Amino acid sequence: MAKSILILGACGQIGTELTLELRKRHGSEAVIATDIRHGDAQLKESGPFELLDATDYAAIEDVVMHHEVEEVYLMAAMLSATAEKFPMRAWNLNMGSLFNVLNLGKERKIDKIFWPSSIAVFGPNTPKKETPQNTLMEPSTVYGISKQAGERWCEYYFKKFGVDVRSVRYPGLISWKTLPGGGTTDYAVEIYREAIAHGQYTCFLKKGTQLPMMYMDDAIRATLQLMDADPERLTIRSSYNLAAMSFAPEEIAETIQQKVPGFKMDYKPDFRQEIADSWPNSIDDSKAREDWGWKPVYDLEKTTEEMVSQLNKLR
Ligand SMILES: NC(=O)c1ccc[n+]([C@@H]2O[C@H](COP(=O)([O-])OP(=O)(O)OC[C@H]3O[C@@H](n4cnc5c(N)ncnc54)[C@H](O)[C@@H]3O)[C@@H](O)[C@H]2O)c1
Repeated sequence: MAKSILILGACGQIGTELTLELRKRHGSEAVIATDIRHGDAQLKESGPFELLDATDYAAIEDVVMHHEVEEVYLMAAMLSATAEKFPMRAWNLNMGSLFNVLNLGKERKIDKIFWPSSIAVFGPNTPKKETPQNTLMEPSTVYGISKQAGERWCEYYFKKFGVDVRSVRYPGLISWKTLPGGGTTDYAVEIYREAIAHGQYTCFLKKGTQLPMMYMDDAIRATLQLMDADPERLTIRSSYNLAAMSFAPEEIAETIQQKVPGFKMDYKPDFRQEIADSWPNSIDDSKAREDWGWKPVYDLEKTTEEMVSQLNKLR
């Protein structure tokens, strides 16, 4: 029997595209998409879908046993901006779901786990430029604290119990298929949608706020490349730094103006500015490059080209 793969939180920004790509590679029936809500039609029609709460250990265990699941991708989480509004709910979801999959690994009910961390593990005291893999980490957001604790637990379960858990620190992700889920880098998706729909965008971060970003195709490729890597080559079991490009709002606006003439942007920073100010400007991902051959394909120009052309097709 072909191996089964379980995605928790499959209806989100990353989970949707990850599920579709995994189904392409392993066959539709082998990839079980689950979430606490229903996702888009393409996701539901392309293979098995179940409603499943990632904080419910017994329910996940049932699905794992029933479908003979070998690999789990845990994409359920509360993201940075929303987590500031609901700290305890964010902590309980982000940590509870991680412990559930780590414990399934410890009990040898699953063989391999992917769990994403984030650039939010870094804080205001971290060096901002080309932030190294190992550096001062004092996250100042609820979300960042949960990701940093998660990284420590991943490494602990690997070292103590031999759990094969793999992770990357995603930067802000840009995609056109599914709307982002309440993060601080969401502006870099909204800007394209608003430019095409209304020719105008009010940015919630101020000019000059440079943040690390990545186009979704690169993020999915990185995820699958890491999951396919020879375990002997992986020297990091907390989470790998991962990078593609870094830009500020005015730079992304410039590339859009070239494709959407007359596009205008103004600025109205809100509470997300403080979160963005605590994060790095750029990331050193040399360990990912060395250990499992990571190399991004999309820069800002290529991302804008793809976003504008795909969103125009949806009109
Ligand atoms: N998108 C980014 O830019 C980004 C950047 C860094 C890290 N990440 C991480 O990647 C992962 C996926 O992020 P995303 O952007 O796809 O998030 P998202 O908010 O778009 O999707 C999360 C999904 O989880 C589901 N969910 C929430 N509670 C659940 C529960 N109890 N049980 C099952 N499902 C539940 C939601 O319904 C949603 O579909 C998260 O761990 C996030 O922290 C994302």
